[in-house]
Formats: sequence, structure tokens, C-alpha cells
Amino acid sequence: MKKIIVIPGDGIGKEITDSAVAVLKKVDEKFKIGLEFDYRDAGGASYDKYGEPLTAETLEACKAADAVLFGAVGGPKWDNIEVSKRPEKALFGLRKGLGLYGNLRPVKIYDALIDGSPLRPEIVAGSDILIVRELVGGIYFGPRCESEIVDGVERAFDTEVYSVPEIERIARLAFESARTRRYKKVTSVDKANVLASSRLWRRVVNEVAKDYDDVILEHLYIDNAAAQLTIHPTRFSILLANNGYGDILSDEAACLSSSLGLLPSISIGGITNFAESSSGSAPDIAGRGIANPIGEILSAALLLRYSLKNEDAAQAIESAVDKTLADGYRTADIYKDGLNRVNTVEMTNAIIDRI
Ligand code: IPM
Ligand code: MG
Repeated sequence: MKKIIVIPGDGIGKEITDSAVAVLKKVDEKFKIGLEFDYRDAGGASYDKYGEPLTAETLEACKAADAVLFGAVGGPKWDNIEVSKRPEKALFGLRKGLGLYGNLRPVKIYDALIDGSPLRPEIVAGSDILIVRELVGGIYFGPRCESEIVDGVERAFDTEVYSVPEIERIARLAFESARTRRYKKVTSVDKANVLASSRLWRRVVNEVAKDYDDVILEHLYIDNAAAQLTIHPTRFSILLANNGYGDILSDEAACLSSSLGLLPSISIGGITNFAESSSGSAPDIAGRGIANPIGEILSAALLLRYSLKNEDAAQAIESAVDKTLADGYRTADIYKDGLNRVNTVEMTNAIIDRI
């Protein structure tokens, strides 16, 4: 048996994890993997029940599992609780607790959706990017101060800190990932013209690159990288970034393909891999059954590929999603006149029918 911990979380998390689990059950039937699902709470849902966004019991259950399928956390209901109890803390606690230093976010441009892209088809066509984001260091985890008074004025700060081993392991993951791709290139993003932590980042990436003669390396400043994504997205293959820049660039890159609801992700490198859509909890549409489940369903495919090493099952899901889009099924976020407008469950069933 392969045990998967499912953490629906908040907002649309329940709807999209229901979809991904239904799809996993279908591939399990077909490929006889022997999947077993075990549910836990995190985020606001956990805070409401246990008074904390992530319990030690949940973290332990994740450590003991073969993989984690995560929905989303957060929502206006918990916006005003104290910082240490905020739903997002669950995500950081899981990433750190499981040691997930590498976050992979593949950005794919579907032929069927190309005219839904905010970019002209001739610019975006052929884009195929894998974002490799460092996930447990940098400014999201560095020393911080919520508030202090200095010379009579209030201030706050966060600190960007990276050590050589932290940069080395994420750079290695980026170069290794590049080797599996058609276009063997790593674009490393930093702000080395201004920041000391970025200069170290660049130096270490250059060192690691010496072991990968077959991979092209380029460095771009973060501001230029953000611009290049919109004017020349096909220049990228692997986009390597620290935690903060990777967070921002992955939302930007996801929009190239028309909706954030399409972007899957898997976090690896630690005890148990962790799959989640990048859509967020979308509280504005939660509970209405209209969320796009594709990002979460494709995350389940990544879970099969990276955690359970079942490439056939992963590809079965990916090609079913391709076919479903080609056949004109569209949730509200990607809907266009004349096509088949469906809700979350209908989209899920259409994908299951094509596996
Ligand atoms: C993401 C999300 C999270 C992050 C938030 C919810 C804390 O934006 O996974 O990209 O910033 O890492
Ligand atoms: Mg983000």
C-alpha cells in the first residue's frame, strides 16, 4: 500500500482535493498502485478545531506517509488572528518540517488555451518552463521583527539569508532537472547588482555549473527576468530562483497559460514529497463548485511521478487533461464563448472518462 495524506485545508481546497483524489482512485484502478488515503486538517480548518494551524500529529502523519496531497490554506475569516496562528503558518511548518527545499512548478502552454493567454500566440507559443524555487530559506525564513521603535519611529524588517549548502542543493536540483529536458538550460535569477545574498547565490550557482558542461547557464536580474517572461518566454527552460523571487515569478509564469488554476506543483528534497496546486484558496469562489481542479489534478500526476515513481500513471493523467481541454471543456476561469462550460465535478469527470 502507498499512503497519501490528503490535506484539503481551506477555501476551494476541499473541492480541488476531492477532484484529485477521484482521479487518483481512477488511475489506481487502472494501474493497480494500491493507494490509501488518510485525511488531516491544516490552516484555518485546523485552527478552528485545535487552536493551531498545524498540529504536531498532522506533521508526524505526513512524515510517515508516502506523499502528501495538499489543497490550500487561508481566507478572510482568519485574516485578523495573531501572526503565529495564521493559516499560512501551516504551509511553512510543513515545508520546513518535511525539509522540502525544492519546489517544482512546471508551466505548460496548452494549444487549446493559447488564445486565452494575455500574450499574443506568436510570443507565448512553445513556452515550456520549469520553475525551481528554493522553498525553506531566504527572506521567508530569515530573522525578522514585526515591530520595534528606533529613535521614536516604528519599523519592521525581514532578512534574506542564504548559506552555501542551501544554494548548492537547489542549484544542483535545477541542473539535474535541466538534464531531463529538451532545452538544457538554467536561467538563475538574482539581484546581484545590489544584494550580498544574491552575489553569493550567483557565485555558488557558477561553481555548481562546472559539474554540468552539457547545460547552458545564464544569470538574469529579477527585474529583467520578470520582463523577459512577458516579452520572450520561450528563452526559458529551467528558471532557478530563491524563495521570494520564485514565489513571484511562478504566479507571473502561471498566467502565461491563462489561469493560475492550471499550475501544479510538487515540493521535494525532504522526508515526504508534497503536491499542491498553485491556485491558492480562492475564498471568493469557495464552496460554489466552480473552481478549476486542473492544477490540483496535475499535482496528483506530479505526486505519482516524483513520489511513487509511476511515470505511466502520471502521463495517463496529463494526457487526459490535454484531451479534456482539446475537447472544449472549460471551467469559468478559462471559459470562452461557444465552448463547453463545466463546473468542478463535471471537469473532473470529463478527465476521469479520458483516463
Ligand atoms: C505559494 C503561496 C505561498 C508562498 C503563500 C500561501 C504563503 O503563495 O505557494 O506560492 O508564498 O509560498
Ligand atoms: Mg505564491
